[in-house]
Amino acid sequence: MSRNRILIILGVVGVLVLVVVGNVATAHTNPPVTTAIHWNSPETEKLMCAACMDCHSNETRWPWYSYIAPMSFLVVKDVNEGREAMNLSTGVEVEGEEMINEIEEGAMPKPVYTLLHPDANLNAGQKAQLIAGIQATFGGEGGEGGEGDEGGESGEGGEGGEGDEGGKSGG
Ligand code: HEC
Repeated sequence: MSRNRILIILGVVGVLVLVVVGNVATAHTNPPVTTAIHWNSPETEKLMCAACMDCHSNETRWPWYSYIAPMSFLVVKDVNEGREAMNLSTGVEVEGEEMINEIEEGAMPKPVYTLLHPDANLNAGQKAQLIAGIQATFGGEGGEGGEGDEGGESGEGGEGGEGDEGGKSGG
């Protein structure tokens, strides 16, 4: 046998070992869903599924590389720890405000995840939409501006004109 052929065989065996280890040494579980979520809108659900649910629910879409060592260890660890911290399928520690904070800080979804899931890499508009959706679905205050006044709505002209002679100053 030529040296090249031996190297190829070793390579193939090596890959097979990684696949076997990735499958056997790590458990890819999807336990039952025991809590139904009443999403405020399909868009919220879609954004949450794209960005959060793989690690924070029991409906994980296990990617192919999660079955190959050493990626398998990293993915399974993230999912297990994510479910422990917050599991939308069981209601464990589900707090809207906490979610919103994590999103605003850029801590969630985990940056390593967005590398491999471009649709989880939310732009500013999607983030705002997701935050509003989380508020509507789970409660919690948005970050922007903190507590207090709902600031004056500026700029919506046009519709006035009813009722009292309230002095409308120009501008
Ligand atoms: C790649 C897996 C992964 C994704 C995707 C992910 N998370 Fe997490 N999340 C984790 C892990 C792991 C933890 C626990 C350890 C930590 O905080 O890093 C966690 C913790 C949290 C916590 C609890 C924080 C705390 O300090 O108790 C919240 C809330 C959270 N995530 C919200 C989200 C939201 C909202 C999204 C989607 C925008 C999201 N996560 C996406 C893995 C993930």
